[in-house]
Amino acid sequence: MSVSGPFTVAIDGPAASGKGTVSRRVAEQFGFAHLDTGLLYRAVALKVLAGGDPLEAAEGLREEDLVRDGLRGSDVAQAASRVAAVAEVRSALLAFQRQFARRKGGAILDGRDIGSVVCPEAEVKLYVTATDAVRAARRFAEMRARGEDVTEADVLAALRERDARDSQRAAAPLVAAEDAVMLDTTEMEIDEAAAQAIAVVERALKIPRR
Ligand code: CDP
Repeated sequence: MSVSGPFTVAIDGPAASGKGTVSRRVAEQFGFAHLDTGLLYRAVALKVLAGGDPLEAAEGLREEDLVRDGLRGSDVAQAASRVAAVAEVRSALLAFQRQFARRKGGAILDGRDIGSVVCPEAEVKLYVTATDAVRAARRFAEMRARGEDVTEADVLAALRERDARDSQRAAAPLVAAEDAVMLDTTEMEIDEAAAQAIAVVERALKIPRR
């Protein structure tokens, strides 16, 4: 099933909640374009770690900055959450995200403030979450698989620090939009989480369930 006009799915949630994987599966299922908005903040952070100015980095961001090596690192994640607290940096990234969201054929954006600030008019809003212990275990497994030398306790501490900063900042804090459908993945395999998200989108598209 595909969509001809604009159709926006907003997915928000804390780190390692499963929102990235769920977004990719929804995008595949419906042929939507997918934007991982965390990459925008990570790309700005990578430039700042190299000595750049945060606002200049955000204003000058280019497509190729979103595919650079090192964007997924945990130091970059922490730096991303610091630059993401700067209101001017967030504003500089808004127009690109909004344009992406309204492209023809449908779009899915995942992040922290998509349903609340970037796309308050999104046709579907999901808030994906899980306990911090489960999220830390998932992130730890990903990092170990990449060969990173970390302990689960360190991953949990870093994740809590970032969650706190993301939730408590004044500019577009991490929050579930009032009209978001909650998806708690604590006791769910990723296939189940993706299936539930797909069902929510199908209902919004008014596709009869088989
Ligand atoms: O993948 P993970 O959930 O660990 O992080 P991410 O989505 O790549 O986001 C990295 C950081 O960017 C977050 O901790 C937030 O501070 C920031 N971010 C944001 O403020 N707003 C968004 N829409 C997306 C990310």
